[in-house]
Amino acid sequence: MMGTSLYSPGDSVRRPLAILSALAEEQAGLVEQLQGAQCVSHAGREFWQGQLSGLPVVLALSRIGKVAAATTSVALIERFAAGAIVFTGVAGGVGPRVQVGDVVVGTGYVQHDMDASPLFPRYQIPLTGQTAFAADAALARSLVFACVVGLQGLQHAGRAPLVHQGLIASGDRFVNGLAETRSIVDALRHHGHEPLAVEMEGAAVAQVCHDYGLPFAAVRTISDRADDSAHVDFPAFVRDVASVYAQRIIRELVRALAG
Ligand code: ADE
Repeated sequence: MMGTSLYSPGDSVRRPLAILSALAEEQAGLVEQLQGAQCVSHAGREFWQGQLSGLPVVLALSRIGKVAAATTSVALIERFAAGAIVFTGVAGGVGPRVQVGDVVVGTGYVQHDMDASPLFPRYQIPLTGQTAFAADAALARSLVFACVVGLQGLQHAGRAPLVHQGLIASGDRFVNGLAETRSIVDALRHHGHEPLAVEMEGAAVAQVCHDYGLPFAAVRTISDRADDSAHVDFPAFVRDVASVYAQRIIRELVRALAG
């Protein structure tokens, strides 16, 4: 990542920071801490407006998959005037050093199931000329900082969580087999992409934010290695690990942004 400056909400003209959670368990603790909480139903979803550490925020659940996450993102921008979007969720680790219990802050996002070839190059989002959308560098740096501070002292399986930064690949499937993971990762590598994690929403939110010119960054807790046991103990991991990480990370992030 270039530069060293952190994200300042003033950069987005003091519009609320949208915090998109993939999982209800991650969001629950944030809603509990929300000051002046107001819940608004819109587009079949619930949006929570209020303040965290004095910072205006709007909280929502992304729902699962690229279209659902894109719809939620557009609603956050059009209806709730979000000035930036931060995403927390879980992902399957596919980078060689990315282990369960680590976190990945995305610096770029690719859709591993996008293939309009031969009309457009593999992975390119038609009519954008882009295959990967970059995270906002300052917001991603702030998220890395929040991870380092927020996860201090925690351990998973006897080891402190590592904070990785790199490419996240999104697609409309839960990757749950070694052969499937290999084929996704090998094909991406063949086209010059080196993914650290796979999930089902990030690249869609990144594309929406790119279209609207809004800062976007995401952090994913690694819940599995996208192999044949990827689904095992998923609910327990979300409850006991991922939701704890997400709440600590967001607490540090909003503290830092609120100044
Ligand atoms: N989210 C968490 N683990 C995942 C996986 N293996 N594939 C897609 N999304 C995920």
